Amino acid sequence: MYERNASHIESLVRDQNDWRGGCINLIASENVTSRRVRGIMGSDFAHRYAEGHPGERYYQGTEIIDEIESDLKQHMKSLFRCKHADVRPISGTIANDAVFSRYIRPGDIVMVNSTPAGGHISHHKAGSVGKYTRNIVNFPLTPDGWHIDVDHTLDLLKSFDPRVMIMGKSLFLFPEPVKELAPYCRKKGIHLLYDAAHVLGLVAGGQFQDPLAEGAAIVTGSTHKTFYGSQRGVILSNLDDEEWRKIDKGAFPGSSSNHHLETLVALTFATYEMLEFGAEYARQVVNNAKHFARKLFDSGFKVQGEQFGFTETHQVAIDMSDLGGGESAARNLKDNRIIVNMNLLPFEPLDHATSASGIRLGVQEMTRVGMKEPEMERIAELFKRCLMDKKFVGDEVKEFRAKFQEVGYSFD
Ligand SMILES: Cc1ncc(COP(=O)(O)O)c(C=O)c1O
Repeated sequence: MYERNASHIESLVRDQNDWRGGCINLIASENVTSRRVRGIMGSDFAHRYAEGHPGERYYQGTEIIDEIESDLKQHMKSLFRCKHADVRPISGTIANDAVFSRYIRPGDIVMVNSTPAGGHISHHKAGSVGKYTRNIVNFPLTPDGWHIDVDHTLDLLKSFDPRVMIMGKSLFLFPEPVKELAPYCRKKGIHLLYDAAHVLGLVAGGQFQDPLAEGAAIVTGSTHKTFYGSQRGVILSNLDDEEWRKIDKGAFPGSSSNHHLETLVALTFATYEMLEFGAEYARQVVNNAKHFARKLFDSGFKVQGEQFGFTETHQVAIDMSDLGGGESAARNLKDNRIIVNMNLLPFEPLDHATSASGIRLGVQEMTRVGMKEPEMERIAELFKRCLMDKKFVGDEVKEFRAKFQEVGYSFD
């Protein structure tokens, strides 16, 4: 009776593959896995459980996943040059929650980047931090809005002691002042957490600040944005063993039980790709973002952060308020097969979230399918024709994108 409905789902999946394969994807939090990573998905691991740690499971029959998970942990530690890696969180939000659940008590003060400054929902009242405390204080920003104001922060800290500081964000153009604030945090016993969800692949490739080396106590991240693995999370640290045990318990049983073995296996494979090709990939991502930003700026777009070279990451931000706002630009681009998201910009009121003035663009996925500086120029030109000259460019986008279907920086 329901087989027709089920078949319809299969056809929707084919539609999705065709649609997104024919679009320029510039969502900054996404990426694509390689053909071989996709090939090992759908294995028997998709059906299994393995709670706990390799060699200390609650179920039998886990020897093979034990070997793979141990391998992943070891290589994550060597990639990020750290003592501990928890690879069990099933997403970046779950990784954050594993840490927050151990470190934040009711009433504690937590310092974060505000939403317009780029902070993620999991750092805020409506998200994970809000489950543990309502005392959330935003970092003060420099007048340009793109940096934490360190002097002002230190001044504010004379009047209260936060328990946790969270750096790292979703709208993320420039490094955070980790080395500037880490000594203060150490002196005061403040847990300094760096959320590397967006920049994890750039850190792995040595193209962005290394937050642990700069003094962060803990790094969390998603494994599928600039880090081009399957959709999961990770926690990294050089904490002493006793302190790390708290985080370990936060990951299991605190924030997950079974940890989705199929994507763990896929992440292990992708981590080898990152070890092999990460430096070259991350360099190209940052070069592409800078080039794209420059070309958009030269075409007349209000690209943010000009005075700082536009960007040091995979992201580019544009203020679209003179061109109808971020929401209408994102919709218009989508109708032309270019996928982006609207975004609040620093200092914009929170209640503009559904009519944000900016758009956020990420070049990591298009870099992975082989695009370089000339292609960034072409995309900037398509943006101008679509958003300024109001021309339909969808067919051109499809034709252009058809030439970039292979996933690079991989063993494919
Ligand atoms: C800064 C930041 N942290 C955490 C997350 C959550 O990651 P996930 O979607 O893997 O749960 C995101 C997601 O975009 C993010 O931008």
